[in-house]
Amino acid sequence: MSDKGNIIITGVSSGIGLAIAKAALENGYVVQGVGRNAPEALEGADCWSFSACDLTDLAAVDALKFQTGAHTILINNAGTLGPVVQGENAMGSDIEACMLLNVTAPMRLTARFLKEVEGDKQVYFTGSGAAQYAIPGWSAYCASKAAIHMYAEVLAQEYPQVPIHAFKPGKVDTPMQAQIRNTTTENFPSVAHFIEEYETGNLVKPETVAERLLHVIASDDKPGVVFPISQINPTS
Ligand SMILES: NC(=O)c1ccc[n+]([C@@H]2O[C@H](COP(=O)([O-])OP(=O)(O)OC[C@H]3O[C@@H](n4cnc5c(N)ncnc54)[C@H](OP(=O)(O)O)[C@@H]3O)[C@@H](O)[C@H]2O)c1
Repeated sequence: MSDKGNIIITGVSSGIGLAIAKAALENGYVVQGVGRNAPEALEGADCWSFSACDLTDLAAVDALKFQTGAHTILINNAGTLGPVVQGENAMGSDIEACMLLNVTAPMRLTARFLKEVEGDKQVYFTGSGAAQYAIPGWSAYCASKAAIHMYAEVLAQEYPQVPIHAFKPGKVDTPMQAQIRNTTTENFPSVAHFIEEYETGNLVKPETVAERLLHVIASDDKPGVVFPISQINPTS
């Protein structure tokens, strides 16, 4: 049993989730990763377990067993960009998969977490600036992230004793950003800007996001419910 607590985090096979899982283990947390694919990098690591779960399968979401302790933190991180097309061309099944993964699964997991988990707890959502800016081509993604920001806002009022936050990570150098750069201008008019941000070295490292989020988790001085991770200074 760790002094720090237990972290349950979804979407740990790559990107931000993998960086948070690694950093949490290095910082003395017991970590339960949840997702379709376990990260090879963490195979056999102490204090690490992986629960295979396709989060678009709601029966699997509802059956997930939480690994808890005296202090347990849920990080709803798994996400998808969803269909990157003009709204009229978005396939119904792609819209549904995006909403299931980005909205329904984190809401169902969080509802169960709040009801079932005893002891101190905290809840985080990987939100996005796309929740607050209309980005042509990203109708499903923007709508899904706006929904999860507002969900966090409502829960934070309902459970003032539980830290509940959605953090905006910025543009982070992950497979999702590579996917964005591989879209067409026709489907995603801003693609050139994202390519330029990558080529000029302006993407945030996933490890930086992880370090800042762990600082927030460990601190008594919490930011607002929805906050940009860039405002967090781990050395302060
Ligand atoms: N990168 C950015 O610039 C950026 C900016 C703002 C917000 N975000 C958010 O950050 C979060 C992490 O994204 P990322 O950038 O780190 O991209 P990523 O590397 O593509 O990570 C996405 C994660 O979600 C998991 N996932 C996808 N479909 C799943 C499913 N059906 N069931 C379970 N897990 C599933 C993936 O694992 P498997 O495919 O192995 O299942 C992967 O671990 C997302 O919520 C994203 O919206 C990213």
